[in-house]
Amino acid sequence: MARDRVYIFDTTLRDGEQVPGCQLNTIEKIEVAKALEELGVDIIEAGFPISSPGDFNSVVEISKAVSEPVICALTRAVKKDIEVAAESLKFAKRPRIHTGIGTSYYHIYHKLNSNPDEIIQRGVEAVKYAKSFVEDVEFYAEDAGRSENKYLVRVVEAMIDAGATVINIPDTTGYTLPDEYGKKIKYLVDHVPNIHKAILSTHCHNDLGMATANTMSGVINGARQVEVTVNGIGERAGNTSLEEVAMIMKSRKHLNLVSNINPKKIYRTSRLVSTLMRMPIQPNKAIVGRNAFAHSSGIHQDGVLKRRENYEIINPKTVGVSESSILLTARSGRAALKHRLEKLGYTFTKAALDTIYHEFVKLADSKKEIIDEDLKVLAGASARDIRRNLHLHKLQVVCGKGTTPVASVTMEWDGVCHTATAEGNGPVDASINAVKEILKKKVKIEEFLIQAITRGSDDLGKVHMQVEHKGTVFYGFSASTDIITASVEAFIDSMSQIV
Ligand code: KIV
Ligand code: ZN
Repeated sequence: MARDRVYIFDTTLRDGEQVPGCQLNTIEKIEVAKALEELGVDIIEAGFPISSPGDFNSVVEISKAVSEPVICALTRAVKKDIEVAAESLKFAKRPRIHTGIGTSYYHIYHKLNSNPDEIIQRGVEAVKYAKSFVEDVEFYAEDAGRSENKYLVRVVEAMIDAGATVINIPDTTGYTLPDEYGKKIKYLVDHVPNIHKAILSTHCHNDLGMATANTMSGVINGARQVEVTVNGIGERAGNTSLEEVAMIMKSRKHLNLVSNINPKKIYRTSRLVSTLMRMPIQPNKAIVGRNAFAHSSGIHQDGVLKRRENYEIINPKTVGVSESSILLTARSGRAALKHRLEKLGYTFTKAALDTIYHEFVKLADSKKEIIDEDLKVLAGASARDIRRNLHLHKLQVVCGKGTTPVASVTMEWDGVCHTATAEGNGPVDASINAVKEILKKKVKIEEFLIQAITRGSDDLGKVHMQVEHKGTVFYGFSASTDIITASVEAFIDSMSQIV
């Protein structure tokens, strides 16, 4: 059975761009419009031309730059708005004027100071006037979510008679429940006599977090256009998110709905909009959030590594994300650690992996996430540790302003434990003196370099050390979230090559 086509009307550049701080200049808007064209949207709402010369100019330039999608301009049910919108669309190959008026009790009496009949008359005049400029006219019944269904039937019938090709039923305040919104659309489908002459459109805001659910309910009940924004950006809590609706239709085949969106371009477009609008994407945002394909608990990681579908309903590659990520945290298991080490080119025996896992868990407890750099250090340290005849067991340091630093070291040397205590001019010096006390070797530290691996105060510190003994220089290395321990371990690493 052929699937029903749902038209994607993108309003990122109009409703989305109304968000404070998200304003784009014309060049940036053209870049977004071109990305939307590549993504496969059917209609681009390019702006509200009467609102500013910048918006007017953007609609003009987008009309020139983009050829596939319909270019739409918003107006109020006001003659001057419609004239300016028509003028801004003069280069558009497929222009659409989107005009409308409030139809809820609040809007009719408390915003427009009017009455229901007059609202219909003003809407009809606006649609007819828009129709004198362009063939394709969309009408919005603002705050339709809170408008009476019986009154909406009158409004919609009159607008279609006046020539509207698309009727938009906005849930302007994001108030309706999915069931209510779906019933509203169905009520219109069942009661407006000329409804077959127009397409019904959803336009849902997210004030109660139900924009996507409401939109889908609208489509399931007969709407065939959805008004959406990339990343769901928009006034207050935002609009319906394009990527969510597109992927619901793609993933839930039994709905028998299809859009023209090329899912492979979703991630790229999402990043572009987020960057240009300086609007970060919440990490747990469906489809495009940083964590949308990231697995952090051991059980899930093991499941995903056995078969991706165990915990993923969408292949990340489908939406242009290269692969799922396995986040290494204190909750990760051996399977995830092994997988990541193998990706980095390390293979270990089961026993060696156990040792690294032990170190990994200790590190993960002191750090939020283990990155590849940390793993390289752990893997390298473990390989060296297996070769070494010296092992640090315990290090205790007393230091601070007004005290003489003292360190007590317990270490194993060829299987025998030794303890020594020493003073120094600082905690590292005291600790190294204690090690020297045990090993009784004459050595000179030629170079001592401490480096942080990344940025946070919880990060690993790397220590490189060069120790000279009888004219030969030995290199030692270690890393730890505790730089004093790392320094002593680096010293021991070099000393293990001497003793
Ligand atoms: O939310 C809304 O009602 C709107 C209309 C102007 C379409 O954005
Ligand atoms: Zn809106």
